This record gives sequence, structure tokens and C-alpha cells, in this order.
Amino acid sequence: MNSVRVSLGDRSYDVLIGDGLLSKSGAIVKRLNIGRDAVVITNRALWRVYGKTLKRSFNRSGISVKPEFLPDSEKAKSSHTLLKVLNHIAAYDKKRSIFIAALGGGVVGDLAGFASAVYKRGIPYIQIPTTLLAQVDSGIGGKVAIDLPAAKNLAGAFYQPKVVISDIDVLMSLSPRQIRNGLAEIIKYGAIKDKALFAYLEKNYKKAVHLDKRVLAHIIMRSVRIKARLVANDEFDRRGKRIVLNYGHTIGHAIEAASSYSNRYNHGEAIAIGMCAAADIACKLNLLKRDGAERIERLIKKCGLPTRIRGLKFSKIYEAHLHDKKFMQDRNRFVLPLIVGIAGIVEAIPDRVITEAVKKRLFN
Ligand SMILES: NC(=O)c1ccc[n+]([C@@H]2O[C@H](COP(=O)([O-])OP(=O)(O)OC[C@H]3O[C@@H](n4cnc5c(N)ncnc54)[C@H](O)[C@@H]3O)[C@@H](O)[C@H]2O)c1
Ligand SMILES: [Zn+2]
Repeated sequence: MNSVRVSLGDRSYDVLIGDGLLSKSGAIVKRLNIGRDAVVITNRALWRVYGKTLKRSFNRSGISVKPEFLPDSEKAKSSHTLLKVLNHIAAYDKKRSIFIAALGGGVVGDLAGFASAVYKRGIPYIQIPTTLLAQVDSGIGGKVAIDLPAAKNLAGAFYQPKVVISDIDVLMSLSPRQIRNGLAEIIKYGAIKDKALFAYLEKNYKKAVHLDKRVLAHIIMRSVRIKARLVANDEFDRRGKRIVLNYGHTIGHAIEAASSYSNRYNHGEAIAIGMCAAADIACKLNLLKRDGAERIERLIKKCGLPTRIRGLKFSKIYEAHLHDKKFMQDRNRFVLPLIVGIAGIVEAIPDRVITEAVKKRLFN
């Protein structure tokens, strides 16, 4: 088992990465002393596969388990579901010492974390991320949220878990598309902060795609280390350190929004295209050499991720990118790769450069 510390003073916690951790989760949680009654927020499909192992492990450590099921889609991150979950918790919370466990991907983790932050103004929670994306990204860092009709993740908080238990075994049931979804974020970590991780992926991408556990454990740990360091330096996203995590996300989010968050593009697929476009922008501004951009695009393609936009109108993507949260007083702001492994923040990029980079990726 590997362990990465997220150092945040009295809010510090460990991210544990390894095989078979679900069956040890009871003992791990018991040591934290955060409660004796777990409300496990998850969905029915995940509970059918992993519920028994988790329950047995928790019960063996003297922790009771009450599952709370969410619908299995982004729609679960709604105010309606949140209130339902809070009411269920309130009904259950009689003479108990409860904490919340999020067993699932980013949808479950974001809603469960937010419910934990607001119930009684905050109760302890733990993350048991079950997607590759959640293990390397959403499960760590304490950004928790629900979506509002006006925008995704619009109501949220910074609320850190007490531990993150990332069991590599649970990734074995993910679809290839979900694996690629997470790989996109791992490519991002390599491109912005870790040239050795990037090179390792170039060598081992096939093994990663085919769920080689040793390779997965390595790339998850390298990614988590980067995220943990950035979070430790900028817990509340105010010091400009976490922003590099948005490489590929400005255009990526615009692609997701322009396709109305439909199944056409999942998050990883959208940011894969966004990373290629941002690399093109960096080349155009003479900040990145052409072979650097080609290297990034090559790895994205090898992992089976898209590099082109299909079936979307330029005007919709352009309109969506104007609403990006990273815009500062009307000046755009992009995270751009400077060389593979190092990124910079660039503001006020001429419109025509962005337009050209997006149009180059459009195929209808
Ligand atoms: N909080 C953050 O910092 C942060 C960062 C990135 C993304 N997010 C959020 O994360 C969400 C996306 O998360 P996601 O990509 O994990 O998607 P997800 O939670 O929707 O999970 C994807 C699908 O995989 C299924 N699944 C989960 N684990 C599985 C397993 N082990 N085996 C088989 N199927 C499994 C889920 O049931 C779901 O159908 C978005 O809502 C996004 O806003 C949050
Ligand atoms: Zn992302």
C-alpha cells in the first residue's frame, strides 16, 4: 500500500492507494475515531458489487452501515437529491455517532462531501473513490458541490475528508471509456507538473488501458502526489497554485457545456481535446515548441482519447468558453504547457488565436 499525505494542519489526511483496501476499510476507519455509524452514500449498481465487502469490513470493526442510494448519473448532483439525502440522514441520526462514507465516482463523492459539509454544519466523511478519475482527482482536495440549473458545481464548499481509500481492485470493473476518462487527467498531471510521469505513460499506456495493477498504482500515486501538493499549497484555490490543474479545462468545459453535458463527451474526452487546443495556442504564442504539442497529442491519441470535436457548432463552443470561471475582468486566462512537464498561466490571449485553435479541431 502507498500513502500520500495531504498536509493541511489539523485538516491533514492520508490518501491510501493499494490492492484489497476495501476489505481493510473498517480497520482504517476505526483508527480515525470519527464515529461508529456509517451512512454509505453510493448507487445501487456499485453497492451490488462492492457493498458486501465494505459492510463486512466495517461491521468487523464495530461500525454499523446504512446505505443511501443516489441515482446513477450527473443528475444526482442536484438540490433535490441533496435534500432527500439530508432528510434520510436526519431520520437515521437518532442517538448515533454518524459519519459519511462516499463509495463511488465523482458524482457520489461531490454530493456526499457537500452533504457532510452542511449536515449539522459539518460531520466527518471519508472518500472511497471507485473511478480512476475520482482516485486521481475528485476524491482529493475537498472541493465538494452540487449542480444548479444555471451551471455545474455552482453550490459547493471546501470540505476535506478524513481519509481517501483508493482500492485499485475496484477499478477492474470500470468500462474502457471510464478508464480513458481518468487517463486524460493523468496525462494532464504529466503535462503540467511531471515529465517523468508523462514519459512513463508514453511507455506504459497500453498496460494502463488494460488495467495492469502495477502500472495503475504507479500513475495514480504520481498523480495524487501532485494534487496533494497543490491542495496543501492552496487549499481554497485563492493563491493561484491550483489553477494549473485547469490545463485543457477552459476549452474542455466549453465542449462539455456546448454538448449540454450529454453522453457525447465525458469530462476526460472533452479535456483531452482541450489539452490539444491549449497546446496549439501555446505553439502559436511561441511558448511551446511544435514537437511538444505533437507529443501531447500523440499520447492522448494512443490512450484512445479524442483530439477532434465532432457534431458541435463553433458558435456554441465559443459562447460557452466566455462563461469560464477563470476569466478575470473580461480577460481570458489559459493554462498553457511551456514544455512537457511545466505549465504557465497566460492572460488576454488574442481572440483570433483561440478561435483558430478551436476551429482547427472542429470536424462536422
Ligand atoms: N470535486 C472535484 O474536485 C472534482 C474534480 C473533477 C470532477 N469532479 C466531478 O466528478 C464527476 C465525474 O466523476 P466520474 O468521472 O467519476 O463519474 P461518475 O461518478 O458519474 O462515474 C462514472 C460511471 O462509472 C460508474 N462506476 C463508478 N465506479 C465504478 C466501478 N468501480 N466499476 C464500474 N462502474 C463504476 C458510475 O456508477 C457511473 O455510472 C462530475 O460531477 C465532476 O463535476 C469533481
Ligand atoms: Zn478535470
